[in-house]
Amino acid sequence: MTQKPNPLSSIKVNGPIPAHLARSVIEETLRSAILDGRLPCGIALRQQDLADLFGVSRMPVREALRQLEAQALLNVVAHKGAVVAPLIQGDAAETYALRILLESEALRMSVPLLEIADLEQAARYIDELETEHDYSEIGRLNRLFHMSLYSKAPNKRLLKLVEDGLNEEERFLRFNLEAMGLGKLSQEDHRAMLHAAQERDVDSSVKLLVHHLNRGVEVITRYLASPEAQSRKLSK
Ligand code: NI
Repeated sequence: MTQKPNPLSSIKVNGPIPAHLARSVIEETLRSAILDGRLPCGIALRQQDLADLFGVSRMPVREALRQLEAQALLNVVAHKGAVVAPLIQGDAAETYALRILLESEALRMSVPLLEIADLEQAARYIDELETEHDYSEIGRLNRLFHMSLYSKAPNKRLLKLVEDGLNEEERFLRFNLEAMGLGKLSQEDHRAMLHAAQERDVDSSVKLLVHHLNRGVEVITRYLASPEAQSRKLSK
């Protein structure tokens, strides 16, 4: 019988993990391995294997897996356990429709409360996006730019949902941005949104955001229907 390669062998654990950090260390380690493709789509993660690997009990493993499921990085499948999620779920259009609702609301609440430092930080992310060529960095900077504009929304649960959605998109972009030719992720939109936020023009900033996200939906929908995306799906 031939030995299947163990997907967990790509994960390095440095020494014993203090119990109170176990959940966050496991979550962060698995998150980055899923994001950079070391743990590919469709791989099942067994709780006991992870507990052995990290040298912890199954409880923090279970909690970490639950967090990753909330971030749409894992799906819990009956009889298989936690399975690394596909890059884009079948309901991508519905996911985007929800994101537009949630992010619009977060922006609406946040804009009047943004401080000068928040706006300066947002401007720096736009500048960094201008010179960045690494696709995984571009995805990350895009997420951080958006979060900086939403950050003052007082509803923390809303912000958590918004961030989960952005994380999901970041993972997709990391693998597909180059092929999609979305380039700098519509930097003019980003600049216009920042400008409206600086002017405290809530309605304009929300309108610009909706336009920006709808443009993303269009590009992704067109890309997913393309022959290139179909062949990538098969090879992943
Ligand atoms: Ni964007």
